[in-house]
Amino acid sequence: MNQDELKKALSKLPLGDVKYFDSIGSTNNEALAWATKDPKDLSLVIADEQTAGRGRLDRKWFTPRGTALAFSLILRPTAEEKSYLTRMVGLAALAVADALRTRGLVAQVKWPNDVLLNGHKVAGILVESVWTGEEVDCLVIGIGVNILKSAVPPAELLQFPATSLEESLGPAVEREEILRDILAGIIALRPHLGADSFIVSWETALAFRGEQVQVEEGNGNLVIGKLLGLESDGSLRLSDEQGNSITVRFGDVRLRPAV
Ligand code: ATP
Ligand code: BTN
Repeated sequence: MNQDELKKALSKLPLGDVKYFDSIGSTNNEALAWATKDPKDLSLVIADEQTAGRGRLDRKWFTPRGTALAFSLILRPTAEEKSYLTRMVGLAALAVADALRTRGLVAQVKWPNDVLLNGHKVAGILVESVWTGEEVDCLVIGIGVNILKSAVPPAELLQFPATSLEESLGPAVEREEILRDILAGIIALRPHLGADSFIVSWETALAFRGEQVQVEEGNGNLVIGKLLGLESDGSLRLSDEQGNSITVRFGDVRLRPAV
């Protein structure tokens, strides 16, 4: 990957400015710093390697050089989008899943922030925000996609099995084209963020729908139930054994099939 290849691949998209790095700590950190300097909407930070890639709660996200997509898109949310901030992680997840589906893959969204292929994590999403007082100024949508097998961390470091696109598609995976399709998907879905049909699409893409799952909450609480779908804000809807509805909100939550 280099600046010229990127320019060519992304030339038809209405992006803001683009910053490419051969190596960086975390594209989200760079984008968060940029977000304080009045960047254009749809500005992009992308790197060939991350040395300090982050998941939620500062968990590590591995991005060895030349093996993955690691990028952060800065959005300047409109007044309407500001009412639907909790849906942004779904927007990113759907854009990733759609880009994989157009390549014949069965991609599913592991609520809240991962994309699975054959039950294995192939992509992760980290949405962060920069506020001025009570108003959100910028959103940073960080996306990591494992392209080559060598992007996948060793199994002993994983809490959930992982995979790469190479595993399903063979070695001829075009990183720049996948990047372009994910970005195009985000841009195309954005006007639908507030629609009821958006939640329906997000629900339809969910992994484990209709199945028994468990959600570990950060406080040690374990919620078990059948995964029904989503609330209007993107919270997860489960039902317990008595058929009572349970809502799991975003936060330090880890979803697993029930054991
Ligand atoms: P889950 O375990 O359900 O994926 P989580 O909350 O533990 O969720 P996240 O914060 O979503 O984890 O993602 C970070 C985790 O992802 C890390 O703790 C690590 O186990 C795993 N991980 C790190 N790098 C990669 C990668 N390139 N591909 C797949 N998984 C990764
Ligand atoms: C997760 O599954 O917890 C989210 C992982 C998000 C990783 C991406 S890679 C690009 C961007 N930069 C980061 O440091 N994190 C996100």
